[in-house]
Amino acid sequence: MAEQSGVQGVTQGRVRLSAEDVAGLNQRFRGSKPEAVLRWAIDTFGSRLAFASSFGAEDMVLIDMLSKIEAPITIFTLDTGRLHEETYDVMERTRDRYKVAVQSYFPGRDAVEALERERGFYSFRQSVEERKFCCFVRKVEPLGRALKDVDAWITGLRREQAATRTGIDVVEIDASHDSIVKINPLTDWTEPQVWAYLREHDVPYNALHDQGFPSIGCSPCTRAIKPGEDVRAGRWWWENPATKECGLHIDSKHGAR
Ligand code: ADX
Ligand code: SF4
Repeated sequence: MAEQSGVQGVTQGRVRLSAEDVAGLNQRFRGSKPEAVLRWAIDTFGSRLAFASSFGAEDMVLIDMLSKIEAPITIFTLDTGRLHEETYDVMERTRDRYKVAVQSYFPGRDAVEALERERGFYSFRQSVEERKFCCFVRKVEPLGRALKDVDAWITGLRREQAATRTGIDVVEIDASHDSIVKINPLTDWTEPQVWAYLREHDVPYNALHDQGFPSIGCSPCTRAIKPGEDVRAGRWWWENPATKECGLHIDSKHGAR
């Protein structure tokens, strides 16, 4: 199966891509529909593939596409403990509509207890370092656990979302996570394309999107944007745009995204 999918390396049951494989695949997927990328991912990685979902608009597009492909795939979410009620609501509606299980990863109990005891409940407002520490405890470390036993993960990243994301490719090697493969099927999609898909297919979405939240993270770190503001202006709004990444999307090629 791996050979048919254009994958070179299968080592001890793990599927690995070389830099040449990745370049060839990105060439092949130029202009392809996201569904074609998802099918390739499922054929290539089988059960060793996971989808990271925060249940934002892009992730809902991918969940709907995956449901139509009818491939059983692990959907996981990083439940930081500080999510909006509306996010739990759309997670539950997703379970109902698509009959899928959602695997939550929580932060380590000891780490959160120490964080709150020693730094307080809003430490992330004090400095970029404090904010990144909270993101590390609540998101980055749990992501490492979620990816420990997979060969590839899917995200809803788009180039247009941020200055830090303009260089992303559909297929990447994730240097931060044991060089597994990272797949971003919506790389080239625009925000109107995302919303056209959601409306056309009557896909459930987070109610906060209708209240001025184009990008949704943790509740104390996300706010609504004003008309004309950048789509990520409501994320960590007190920080400089150059620092506004939580550490989920970092690699040696592109730096923080
Ligand atoms: S973030 O790094 O700034 O938080 P963003 O909210 O734009 O990322 O989401 C980009 C992609 O990262 C999502 O489409 C999803 O694949 C993944 N992601 C972000 N937050 C989470 C989360 N809490 N749980 C799982 N995946 C997430
Ligand atoms: Fe902590 Fe805010 Fe990062 Fe959530 S987004 S993990 S609350 S700093």
